[in-house]
Amino acid sequence: MSTSQNWPYPTHIAHRGGGRLAPENTLAAMRVGRDHGFRMVEFDVKLSRDDIAFLLHDDDLDRTTDGKGLAGDRSFTELALLDAGGWHSPAYVGEPVASFQAVAQYAIANQIACNVEIKPTTGREAETGTAIALAARNLWQGATVPPLLSSFSEESLAAAQAAAPELPRALLVEEIPADWREKLAKYECVALNINQRDATQALINDVHAAGYRIAAWTVNDPERAALLLSWGMDAIFTDELARISPTA
Ligand code: G3P
Ligand code: MG
Repeated sequence: MSTSQNWPYPTHIAHRGGGRLAPENTLAAMRVGRDHGFRMVEFDVKLSRDDIAFLLHDDDLDRTTDGKGLAGDRSFTELALLDAGGWHSPAYVGEPVASFQAVAQYAIANQIACNVEIKPTTGREAETGTAIALAARNLWQGATVPPLLSSFSEESLAAAQAAAPELPRALLVEEIPADWREKLAKYECVALNINQRDATQALINDVHAAGYRIAAWTVNDPERAALLLSWGMDAIFTDELARISPTA
């Protein structure tokens, strides 16, 4: 079944909100992405101990906040008191951990499309997929452009599919599985999101011929970005917001 008509998304996606220019997965990053002309952002979402959806890439707090240990063990009240910006640069000291709700509200108010990457704390794959999909349905109710849900976790994706089947999904893969067609069909995805190093003209053609879209992360070389787009890649995720510009 072809689902490629359900793709209202631009070609350039700001990775983790503001790429390298701002602390990843914060509201400040979303503003930087927008200020650089990006009309779409990608960010990573997981659950706090008390089931509040918030943005963080890693299981642990250590790399991108001043906290330590497993983020999913903390309540959102505890997470909200952490500094998620000081690791990046002094300009962002004090930037809080972002709730999914705040980022969704910002994006909708500013007409920024979103790729919500479901990034479950290890062991909480299904419940995270369900909770994020239901939250996304609620937050984007009545919005013109729905969020694109994606995950490396097939368990999360399946749970999102069951909870909110109407929201578009992408299968995220570290490597291209031989049975990508079967997986995309199983999870009723609109797209395959691949590591850019695996992109070829032939693969793009095959994915399109199968009725799906294809996007590549993370493209930080402007020449590579231009090449992939010339091959028909539907979207690229980039950290290089100044050098790989949607407005160039
Ligand atoms: O969703 C695309 C990309 O963000 C996947 O990799 O590790 O940056 O979340 P990662
Ligand atoms: Mg991500």
